[in-house]
Amino acid sequence: MAEQNNITKIPTHVAIIMDGNGRWAKMRGKERPEGHIAGVESVRKVIKAAVAEGVRYLTLYTFSTENWGRPQEEVDAIMELFCRSVIAETPELIKEGVQIRIMGDRVAFSEKVNAYIDRIEGDTAAGEVLTVVLAMNYSSRYELTATMKALAGKIADGALKAEDITAEVISENLYSKDYPDPDLIIRSGGEYRLSNFLLWQAAYSELYFTPTLWPDFDKESFHEALEAYAGRQRRFGLVK
Ligand code: FPP
Repeated sequence: MAEQNNITKIPTHVAIIMDGNGRWAKMRGKERPEGHIAGVESVRKVIKAAVAEGVRYLTLYTFSTENWGRPQEEVDAIMELFCRSVIAETPELIKEGVQIRIMGDRVAFSEKVNAYIDRIEGDTAAGEVLTVVLAMNYSSRYELTATMKALAGKIADGALKAEDITAEVISENLYSKDYPDPDLIIRSGGEYRLSNFLLWQAAYSELYFTPTLWPDFDKESFHEALEAYAGRQRRFGLVK
């Protein structure tokens, strides 16, 4: 692990907003789904780079709850791409020790997509080098709303007292409960916003924005983001 990095401070958890696929395709006179196909290549490169750099968790914003509002053929193309990638990538992921987990509400997915989710989570469950969390049908407000409902249910059942709710209790009831908060959030594609991604978990994350469109994002781009992170001073609200 960490064979190629020469950075002293490696983030444990990197989360990425993979933006710019549509623009990348349009700039080449192609349809938007072509950009997502090219985006999968970047996913493959970044997973390999994360393993090489020694990152332990990589969360990828793959499909937001708002993305259902895109044209049906684009939604179908992304779902199909996920299913095809599961088949194509699983052997290499297992070889690299990568575990894939899906984070988000699975109810909205077709039976087929849910079957592929079960398949990739099951086939890669033993991976211990890197956990890749695909945020699918995920958005932060949706997650927080579900968490508040769950906590309210526990209070109604007498399993929890309102005064016992702490920040830790909330974290333990989020979809992301199995993962540490992201140390670094990267957004490609030139926009400067979080777009409903990990709002609670991002409280002390370092943010890195790059104009590079996602299909052009590669291992060097990832390394540059990690270098920028290594130069940041994290104070968590304290003084040095
Ligand atoms: C944002 O770019 C990208 C998405 C909403 C989809 C991301 C999905 C992939 C990279 C493929 C996922 C597949 C697997 C297997 C992980 P955009 O379309 O919003 O780009 P734009 O801002 O240029 O329109």
